[in-house]
Order: sequence, then C-alpha cells, then structure tokens
Amino acid sequence: MRILGIETSCDETSAAIVEGQPNNYKVRFLSNVVTSSLNLHSETGGIIPEIAAREQVKYIIPVIKKALTLYSSSDQAKPESREVNNETMKQLNNETIDAIAVTVGPGLIGSLLVGVETARTLSYVWKKPIIPVNHLIGHIYANFIQRTDDRRQKADVFSPPIFPAIALIVSGGHTDLVLLKNHGAIKWLGGTRDDAAGEAFDKIGRLLNLPYPGGPAIEKEAKMGNPKAHPFPRPMINSKDFDFSFSGLKTAALREIQGVRTYSSSESRAKSRESREVPRDKFSTGSNNKIISNMAASVQQAIIDVLVTKTLKAAQKYKVKSILLGGGVAANQKLRDELQLKIENFKLKIQLSVPPKDLCTDNAAMIATAAFFNYKKVPWQKITANPELYFE
Ligand code: KG4
Ligand code: ZN
Repeated sequence: MRILGIETSCDETSAAIVEGQPNNYKVRFLSNVVTSSLNLHSETGGIIPEIAAREQVKYIIPVIKKALTLYSSSDQAKPESREVNNETMKQLNNETIDAIAVTVGPGLIGSLLVGVETARTLSYVWKKPIIPVNHLIGHIYANFIQRTDDRRQKADVFSPPIFPAIALIVSGGHTDLVLLKNHGAIKWLGGTRDDAAGEAFDKIGRLLNLPYPGGPAIEKEAKMGNPKAHPFPRPMINSKDFDFSFSGLKTAALREIQGVRTYSSSESRAKSRESREVPRDKFSTGSNNKIISNMAASVQQAIIDVLVTKTLKAAQKYKVKSILLGGGVAANQKLRDELQLKIENFKLKIQLSVPPKDLCTDNAAMIATAAFFNYKKVPWQKITANPELYFE
C-alpha cells in the first residue's frame, strides 16, 4: 500500500509518499518534499497566518508534483530533470497511490484549508480514498518511518517502537504527554496550560534578539553557555499531574534580560542600579555573547529538566516499553541526550525512539505514516479542516 501524504497546517507545505505492507510494522519512506515560508516570517519573529496561507496556495501543487517525480524517478539525485505533466500525474496516481492522507488540524485555518481542499479535489478526480490525520498524532508517527535515504536506518537496523509507549509531543503550538496502548488507542495524560515548549523557545529567542525560530538558535547558543548561570524556575516540575506551564519562564527570562541589558549599557547603568532586579555579580564579565549563551543554556536546561522529569514520571507510572519524542523541539540534541541518560541512570528498560531531525519538524511523511497505521477512510465530502482539533 502506498499513501500520498499532504501537510499544510502552518508554514510548511509538504507532500510525501510512503509505502508499507499490512501486518508489517514497517513503513518505508519513498519521497518527502518540504518547503516553508519561514524566511518570510523571520522578520516579524512569528508566523503571519495570512502570509502562510498565501504561500501554501503557491506551493501545494509544485510540492505534490515533486513528491511524485521523486518517487517515480530511478535517479533520485536529479528530480528536477524530470517534468511531471498533468497526464503523467494522472497515470502515476493510478499506478502508485492507494490513498491520500491529509492533516485536518490542529493548525492555522487558512493553511489547513489549502491542504484539505487539495486532498478533497484529488480524491474526487483520482477516485482514491482520503484518511484525515490529526497533526499531533502525525508527529508521533515520525517514529515509525523507516528511511531509505539514511544509512543508519537500513531495514535490518530499524526497529519500530514497542507498545505500550509514552509520547512527548513538543512543538511550537503544543506540549502534550500521551499514552499509546496500541495504534489508535491513545490516551491524553496532560499538556501545557499556557505556552508550549517551542513557543517558550521562540519567545525567549526573540527577547535575546536571536533569529526566528528560537529553538534551533537557542540550542546553538547554548552550546557555548553555562546551563547553571541563571537559576530559572522549573515550572510544575513536581506537580502530581502531567501538565506543563512555560509562560512563567518567559517572564523570568525577561527579568534577567532586563538586568543584563541595563547592566551592559554604560549609559543607563548608574541610573538603573537601584532598580536592577538581577544582582550584578551573576553575570560574567565577558562579552554580550557570553551573556546570551549563558541565558540560552540556562533557559534550555530549565525547559529540558521539566520535559524529561515529567516524561519519565509518566513512563514509570504506566510501565511502558518505549518513549517516543515528536514535534520540532524533539530535534533538540540536548533533550534527546538527557532523556537517554536518565533512562540509563534509572536503569529503566525503556527504548527511547527519536525521529531523524528533519522529520521532527512538520512534514508529510509522518502524516502518511499515521494514516497507514490508522487507516480510516472518510468520503471526501465529509473531510473538513478543524483548527482546534485535539486528542479525543
Ligand atoms: O513541529 P513544528 O515544526 O511546528 C509545529 O507544529 O509547531 O515545531 C516548531 C517548533 C518551533 O517552536 C521551534 O523553535 C522548535 O520547534 N524547534 C526547536 C528545535 N528545532 C525546532 N526547539 C528546540 N531545539 C531545536 N533544535
Ligand atoms: Zn507540528
């Protein structure tokens, strides 16, 4: 079975083809094309929904065509040399595609509609079924993809996650812990009460004048900083539930930054000495860069400590066999390493599964894979975009 996946929930426009055999828990990835309007949003430091939707309209058909071209090409290195005209596209679909998977939510309504309407049209014209996919569940299924373009993931090496499993979904819009007893048997355990982990990275990145998105920029800066330089709060780390809260961290970071900025500006130094909230000796005397990297390392550590502690608590409570990471923040190497280290330190018999980094952020391969394991066809007339979609 081959599924064409379509993902347009935010600023990425993506199409992918995955292939899998029923009763075999491995899904191969045949093509995955992702384009993003991110650079148009970096000036404003956040996604402008109207612009994201307009860019989706521009890219959706070329991206689908490219995914089909890559798939049909024996020479995958030069897909541009092969043009897929409408006739070929029709044939390709009839020969190759069994179903269309599309993200129906959550996300930005304008962006979601582009993918959903394209999938509905293709389903009608191609007479192929549609499988609607929850974007958050899609992030979990990035862990079930076996890549053909990654040597480390050759067929014999790749082993899909084992149930029961805890999944931590950490993205720009969500931070959720869910229990998976099997495919389709998902129980939501907790989530953020305010900002998502990725949102905290992005907002604090902006405060530090780092490029958007803040997550990768903070990770890069943090490598040169001291994670103990600023003792930021670890919100809700010891709460009995599986909820999170990251908005207080942003406020704490702002206070520290104001302290740093006041401190580093000679003009205002004397004036604000009394009102300074952060003691002067907290900051090393180095350059501004050192201040930023210390802030980045400390913020990153605070977020990771909370994510790791809560995830392990859920894993132990539900006696799971695997922990799965998903979402853009799962690309953070320190988060991956610390989770693995703690699993080993606590001598837990838990397998940690992390998607390849480029499959942590939004992509259509994860959407097609989620559809493969949760194959529920819905007539095209009944498919609707739902920006507020969550876990049932
Ligand atoms: O999953 P995603 O691509 O989009 C949403 O569904 O939101 O996640 C984007 C988020 C952004 O907030 C970005 O800052 C964060 O993932 N992110 C990271 C890293 N790479 C992306 N956060 C921390 N470390 C990273 N390396
Ligand atoms: Zn996402």
